[in-house]
Amino acid sequence: MNEADSEIIAGLLEDCNYRATRVPEEADIILVNTCSVREGADSRAIAHLSQYKNLKKHNPGLTLGLVGCVAQRDRGKILEQKPFIDLVLGPDTYRRIPELIIHANKPCIDVHLSKQEVYEGLMPFRNTQVNAWVSIMRGCNKFCSFCIVPFTRGRERSRAVESIVTEVKKAIQDGYQEITLLGQNVNSYKHQEDRFPDLLKTVALIPGVKRIRFTSPHPQDVDEAMLKVMREHENICKSIHLPLQAGATKILKLMNRTYSKEKYLDVVDKIREYMPDCSITTDIIVGFPGETDEDFEETLDVMDRVVFDNAYMFKYSPRPGTAAVKLPDDVPENVKAERLNRIIEKQKAHLLAKNRALVGTVQTVLIDGFSKKDRDEKIGRTDTNKLVILKAGSACIGEMVKVLIFDAVGVSLFGKVD
Ligand code: 5AD
Ligand code: SF4
Repeated sequence: MNEADSEIIAGLLEDCNYRATRVPEEADIILVNTCSVREGADSRAIAHLSQYKNLKKHNPGLTLGLVGCVAQRDRGKILEQKPFIDLVLGPDTYRRIPELIIHANKPCIDVHLSKQEVYEGLMPFRNTQVNAWVSIMRGCNKFCSFCIVPFTRGRERSRAVESIVTEVKKAIQDGYQEITLLGQNVNSYKHQEDRFPDLLKTVALIPGVKRIRFTSPHPQDVDEAMLKVMREHENICKSIHLPLQAGATKILKLMNRTYSKEKYLDVVDKIREYMPDCSITTDIIVGFPGETDEDFEETLDVMDRVVFDNAYMFKYSPRPGTAAVKLPDDVPENVKAERLNRIIEKQKAHLLAKNRALVGTVQTVLIDGFSKKDRDEKIGRTDTNKLVILKAGSACIGEMVKVLIFDAVGVSLFGKVD
């Protein structure tokens, strides 16, 4: 979401005749877009911006800004502690960037959270080659007890279908092959009478859209209408990110996740009933307050039953201002670390087994870049979002090719154009 927001900001600056540079010494404006979802991301972001402060000696007009969720959360504190920062802007105030920069009223802070802002009508300045991020809704009303997002990004609001369609058509015209619909709770999209399955279908029918992905859905809002649309349209990728967070119903309740272990497993069964080969990925937190060994075993049990295609795994960290900070952070750090290791190892084994089962099959891969290790190799993704390193011959970035998978090592698949 931050990458997509950064592209919106870059689009606004392009419209004011600013041009992008990769050389910090050349820049007149440096904005660092920040995430505060987990501990550490915020301090890293401020440290990142601090490294540019000396550039002001040579370019006194340089504007340094901190934008996004850390800016939203820490507001005035940042200007007090880091006086070299000129701009502090929350996620709903980016439209003001041209005005603030042109008038150079420094320092300036705006962390107003909006009930309406969806950045409709702005064209992002895209930073990608194959995939175009298209933000369809913002904010979150779910209030999971561990999560800072509802406080830094405000309430849910969705963009009109027509404005999303216009942006997708423009991205296709500009040569993008893949569209990823984005939202904090992407499948609780709701604009007037339109719901997420309606939007998904409308986007799938736009000529030239080779692939559609979306992230992140909430298990509570996965319904049969969504699964039906996914099954009916070949260009909607058969891949769902379904954040689990924890396996034990007791912990899920404390997390305010609105589903039980059984309900989560039912959603997985439903997905597989509609699309047996759909990949399912997840997010897991270990060491939430009150998580006993038995509760943790339930997380392992869900992993064994589902066998996820991929997982983002975290140790719980208390986020000030959330409901969970009122609970004692009672799982010792070493236990958190040990649990994290156990799920990482399990996930590695599951991924490798799943990938090995694909050896010998032919997969449709959309090529999206060069391999970092070997410039003769390219990388791409299967419909199910698996990374493939491939000998692609003359096939170009942006091409869809049939690839014979001949090996699976670590987290990667290896293939050659069939
Ligand atoms: N501690 C650890 N992980 C968290 N996440 C969100 N908040 C926290 C927290 N306080 C994780 C969740 C979420 C992902 C984006 O980050 O798993 O799905
Ligand atoms: Fe955070 Fe929960 Fe909202 Fe996701 S659904 S953004 S985890 S509060």
